[in-house]
Order: sequence, then structure tokens, then C-alpha cells
Amino acid sequence: MKCLSVLTLLVSVASCGSALGQAHSSPAGLPHLENHGSATQLVVDGKPFLVLGGELHNSSSSSVEYMQPVWPRLAAMHLNTVLLPVAWETIELAEGKFDFQCVDGLLSGARDNHLKLVILWFGAWKNTYSSYAPAWVKNGNDRFPRVQTSDGRGTERLSPFSAAVRDADARAFAQLMRHLREVDSEQHTVLMVQVENEVGVVPESRDHSPVADASFASPVPPALTSFIQNHRAALDPAFRAAWEAAGGKTAGTWQQVFGKSSLTDDLFMAWQYASYIERIAAAGKAEYPLPMYANAALIRPNYEPGQYNSGGPLPHSMDVWRAAAPSLDFLSPDIYFNEFALWAGSYARPGNPLFIPEAQGGPAGAANALYAFGRLSAIGFAPFGIDDLGNAPLDLVGITNPSESPDNAAIASVYTVLSRLAPMILERQSANGLSAALIEGEAQRSARFSLGDFTATMTRAGGASNAAARIAALFLQTGPAEFLVVGSGDAQITFSTDKPGPPIVGIESIDEEIFQKGAWVPQRRLNGDENSQGQALRLSAADLAQGKIYRIRLYRYR
Ligand code: DGJ
Repeated sequence: MKCLSVLTLLVSVASCGSALGQAHSSPAGLPHLENHGSATQLVVDGKPFLVLGGELHNSSSSSVEYMQPVWPRLAAMHLNTVLLPVAWETIELAEGKFDFQCVDGLLSGARDNHLKLVILWFGAWKNTYSSYAPAWVKNGNDRFPRVQTSDGRGTERLSPFSAAVRDADARAFAQLMRHLREVDSEQHTVLMVQVENEVGVVPESRDHSPVADASFASPVPPALTSFIQNHRAALDPAFRAAWEAAGGKTAGTWQQVFGKSSLTDDLFMAWQYASYIERIAAAGKAEYPLPMYANAALIRPNYEPGQYNSGGPLPHSMDVWRAAAPSLDFLSPDIYFNEFALWAGSYARPGNPLFIPEAQGGPAGAANALYAFGRLSAIGFAPFGIDDLGNAPLDLVGITNPSESPDNAAIASVYTVLSRLAPMILERQSANGLSAALIEGEAQRSARFSLGDFTATMTRAGGASNAAARIAALFLQTGPAEFLVVGSGDAQITFSTDKPGPPIVGIESIDEEIFQKGAWVPQRRLNGDENSQGQALRLSAADLAQGKIYRIRLYRYR
């Protein structure tokens, strides 16, 4: 079934009863977020859930047939969740006529393969553009206005200032969420929903339509200025600095409060996109209150607003988004850049759990996943283009067992191990006993991190050919001086302590373990060349593919 080819099972909005914004009592046991200790976790069917995800290419989920051979491959890679788009044009091909055949086909495909879904609502915007809006919206220019450039030209972006666009988008999204409530509130196949995709404007830093100009010259909404005053101590440092540099005013136009710079244009657009998305998310939650979030395209070095998506949910504008869009549960980064620790860390903030809906895959992605789950208590991680067939020609689609691309093999390996360790990881995310380190970039040779009473130092190994490789290790504490270790890359790890007691840390033992019949089973005891005669834990880039982890016991002496 091509999802746009037929219009059967039409449902008219008029026959659907409830008005926008009408609250429902939430069905019991829905997927939701809970604070556990210092972590916020996704709870599914009463238990914390670690999203070992992957995002499909943009058009894959527009065809149920196309997806048929893809589902089992994703399940075989040990993904537990697939992130996939549902486009506005797919469900509302004609205005007010809704068709959920495609959504239902995707739900069945996921359920048949024991997979969960995160739905990406491609409504008014996808990567700043409006390419997934239905034809009746695209052609309805008089009714559905566009973002304009400073010389008065329209762009192919629906206007976030338009109530007509917003209400049509919200109505469609509410219908989708209503449908999910009707068909999925028992099974909980859909865990969360992303509202729109990588919003913002390019190539200029703000919309220059007459309505946008008028809004820009108006006072900053009091809802934002009071948020700033009430959260002054916890504001993002860059945001706070911009505001204070402009005089720390609590009233005035955008330029009076935030200064005359393109950053102000960015904050202005952030307010507008976030206010719009708040209305969409609230309309959807009124029907079916799953956790919802918005995602950001990040900033390349030295890019200015408009070169990057101006107005997206970026670290410096998070406070604006939080003030305007309380219905969003968190904001997410799409991380393709090499500075993974920096970007991921800037979204893992108090009040904003880390969920990474798009990321690079391959061995780098495997290392990043270990760091995100082990160091930043991530809810989930999802390499983009997870349905890639690698170098296989497209006509291989339909063949049941095509060989995976090297990228997918690395993700399959890390997810195989993580799926087995997930209960232990989740338990320790909310308490103590979980740590991870990442070495990234040629300039970085080592990383130090705490492990209970110990300090670990991880150093790049593997010679010149490994000089730029990304390396990670995740440690799970299983006793006062005992840890399970998952590694990605060639490295060696030494141990020390600054705690009272005998000052020198030795390695009592290292066992390699593999998973057999539901349990981790010891293999070789490594005490010679394999661990530098007991002086270091050595990780190999081949470990993950072999499904191998290490159990290390430390001791102290003088
Ligand atoms: C980021 C977007 O959010 C995705 O939908 C996709 O277009 C990727 N970029 C492609 O790299």
C-alpha cells in the first residue's frame, strides 16, 4: 500500500465529535516520564524503558509494503524502537477527510516484530520547509501564508505567525492522536511523539512578512519576560548573557530587551515556533497524552542565525522554548557533529532529559550511544537512516536477508549488548553505579572519570591508524570494587584512587564474558599480555562485534 494512493476508511472531522483542546482523562498506564533519583526515565507498561532506537529515512514509512522486509531486519539488529515520520499529507489528503490506513499498517508491522514506535509528526515543517503539507495547503496560498524574505519574496515555508496554518495543523495532529488513542491505548506501541521536525528559518535570521515585522516591533510577551525573571538563576548562560548585555530589561520590544543582533531575531523566531508548537502539542495531548518533544538542527562552527535554522530549540534558546511550550516534555538535539559530548551535554540539563532522535551511526554512533546512556542518563538514542541497505542496490528491497551495511553492523552490535544490560543500566541511571567516558577527536588522547571509590583513566590505543577513532567505555558497578565494562574502540584503562585507605589500585582479576542462555557467562581469565600483566584493562575494537564484555575486580595495596 502506497499511503497516498487511496482514500478509503475516510473519517470526516465533523463526525469526530470532540473539539480541539477538549481534555480527556488519560487512559491508565500510558507511556510517560518519571523522575527516578537524578534521572528522568521513560516508563512503559509500568517499567523504565531504554529506547534503543533508529530513525528511518524520511520516505520509508510512506509505504507499508516498503517497510515489510525492513521491520524484521531492525528487530534482528536488537532495536526496540523505530522512529518514523507520519506526514500530514498522508493522513489528510483532502481537507477534513482523514485516512489512517498507513498509520495502522505501520502499527501492525511494528507489533508483528515486537518493536515500539516514536512517531515524528511532519506537519507544517520538516527541516524548515513545508514539503510534507498536503497539496490543498500548499495550493491554498491566500489562506495559508508563507515566511517572507526581507525583499518581500515568499519562501516554501508556512508562516508560524498564521492562525490558519496553526489551526489546520493542530486539527490534523489531534486527529492522529485521537486515532492512536483508539487503536493503541491498550498495546502502547507508540511511546512518544516528536512535534514537527527541525523547525527554524533560513537563509535569513527571521521572517520579514508584514505580520512578523509588526510582531517584532511589539513588546516581548509578558509570559517570556516573567519567565526570565522567575528563572533568572537557572537561565542558559548564553541566553542570560545576551539579555544582561542588553540591560536586563523586563519590558520593551525584542531589540530593546535582547539587543540589536541576529541572535535577537533567533530568539524572536524561537518564541513564535515554540508558541505554535505548543498549540499543536496541547491539541494532541488533549486527545492522547503521550510524551512529546521538539528536535533541533544544531549549529555548525561560526554559523549565524539564518545560516543555521533560526528559531529552533537550541541550547541558547531553550528558556524561550520552555516558557512558550510547556506541553513539550523535553527538547532534543539531532547530533551528526563530532563534538558529541559537548552537544549531548548541553541538552542533558535539569528539567530536560536527553533523548537523541537523530545521530550518526557506525562505530562512532556505537561509542556515542554508550556515552549517552552511561554518562548522561539518556532516555534514548537513534542513528538516522537505520533502514539503509548499505551498498545493496535498491531493488534488493524485498529480499529477506540482505547483508547489513557496516554502519548498521556496529549499531546492531552495541544494541545487542545494551539490550541485555538495559535493566541494570536503567536501575543505575536512577541511583549510583553507572559511569562512562568518551574520547573524541585527534586532539584528545585520554579521559578520566570516577567509578565509586576509584578513578579510571582511559587512553587511546591502537597506534597511528587509531589516532582519530572515537572510543567509549561504559562501567556498571556490581560490587564495592567490581564492575562490568562495555567498550567501543581500542583503548586501555588504568585505575587509581584518592580516597582514604591504601593508595595503590591493583587489578584483582579480569574475566571476559559473553551472553549465553539468558546470562553472562565467564570465558577467559585475562591476567597476562591481554591486560598488560595485570596493569590495565585493554579494550579492543572487535569486542562489541563479538558480544564481549569484561568483569573487572579491583583491590588496593600500599
Ligand atoms: C536531518 C533531518 O531532521 C532528517 O529528517 C533528515 O533529513 C536528515 N537530516 C538527513 O541527514
